[in-house]
Amino acid sequence: MPYTVPKLTDFSTAALNSAARELLSALEQESKSVLTSEVNESDHDTEWKKRWDQWKTFRDRWIARKNGVLTQINDLWLKTAPKEAKREVGQKVNALKIQVEKEVEQTEARLQHHQWDAEKALLASPGTRSFATYDDALRATQRLDITLPGIRRPIGAEHPVIKTMNEIIGVFRNLGYSVEEGPEVETDYYNFEALNFPPNHPARDTQDTLFIAGQESKPLRDRLLLRTHTSPVQIRTMQKMKPPVRVVCPGKVHRNDALDATHSPIFHQVEGLAVDTNITFCDLKGTLDHAMKALFGSSVKTRFYPSFFPFTEPSADVQISCIFCNGKGTRDGAPCRNCKASGWIELLGCGMVDPNVYGFVDYDATKVSGFAFGMGVERIAILKYGVDDIQLFFQGDVRFLEQFG
Ligand code: PHE
Repeated sequence: MPYTVPKLTDFSTAALNSAARELLSALEQESKSVLTSEVNESDHDTEWKKRWDQWKTFRDRWIARKNGVLTQINDLWLKTAPKEAKREVGQKVNALKIQVEKEVEQTEARLQHHQWDAEKALLASPGTRSFATYDDALRATQRLDITLPGIRRPIGAEHPVIKTMNEIIGVFRNLGYSVEEGPEVETDYYNFEALNFPPNHPARDTQDTLFIAGQESKPLRDRLLLRTHTSPVQIRTMQKMKPPVRVVCPGKVHRNDALDATHSPIFHQVEGLAVDTNITFCDLKGTLDHAMKALFGSSVKTRFYPSFFPFTEPSADVQISCIFCNGKGTRDGAPCRNCKASGWIELLGCGMVDPNVYGFVDYDATKVSGFAFGMGVERIAILKYGVDDIQLFFQGDVRFLEQFG
């Protein structure tokens, strides 16, 4: 008799425990029967397809949203529990949920191992089943059927962050920019001082910056840290090149941020820098407007919002019209969640290079002018591909990554 979830009338601890015990022992038995069931098909693929179908039935029976056992205990136990028992029943139901999900996962993992073992055994003993099948067919026709599909060797896919980074770089390459890179372990001088950060600027704080240990005996400017942005590459580039300069600088950056769906202590930026004679804010606007249209589609609009960075003056945040609601702020009659109903999404920082910065690299601030910008690669990838959690980029889950191949 397969297990069915009983209605509860008695909500005492003892009754709850006994109902939970019964449920778990049924779970264990059903898992066992998935793993030990007799399926003897003559060919390996059919046999394992059947086994996996059995596992799916088992999984759905226990955790399917619609009428799985977990849904049923929620309906039959938790919802009907009297007020004073709700808390205890809730805790029990939650604990069961975790145990059931774990058992379903473990059954999957065990089945997978059984399959691998079976495949290994097959390969180790030619002449058994699938080889015998193959031999017979070969003898029958005396030739190889070259129309049969070959063995597909999966090739890797470009990581979505690298893919997006290359796309961004491509847009600027087409505008005549070249690519510069700099170190991820930087000095305070390049990451802050030469970028016009005053000595006590809050961004230098241990709150945001990850410092390399044991640097205290060095002068401040020589102390090592993990770069918090790609802007130090601006300085390194201007030290080695005279204007005109047009570069993009891709790379990894680090911040002491707690991780959540939109924050990660490691992420990537693409920096841009253009310095020449007579470069104006109009050039900056035109360049970034073009870049955003190239990345997100020609109907996207841009808006420049006053902001502040120590190394640019004036500074701006660039917003693009929301690509989810086409800038309307509402979608299907409801407020758009992606732009918080504003119709705009903030995407990057930029500005005209602050003349003080030229002082650090021996450029003549009375002769040249330029602009800089910096954009977060994950943020752009999230928007372009509709990813809802930045962590997915760093967890290495092949099921997520292969979608970008
Ligand atoms: N470095 C800035 C940041 O990480 C972005 C920026 C780059 C702003 C270049 C202006 C110019 O937030």
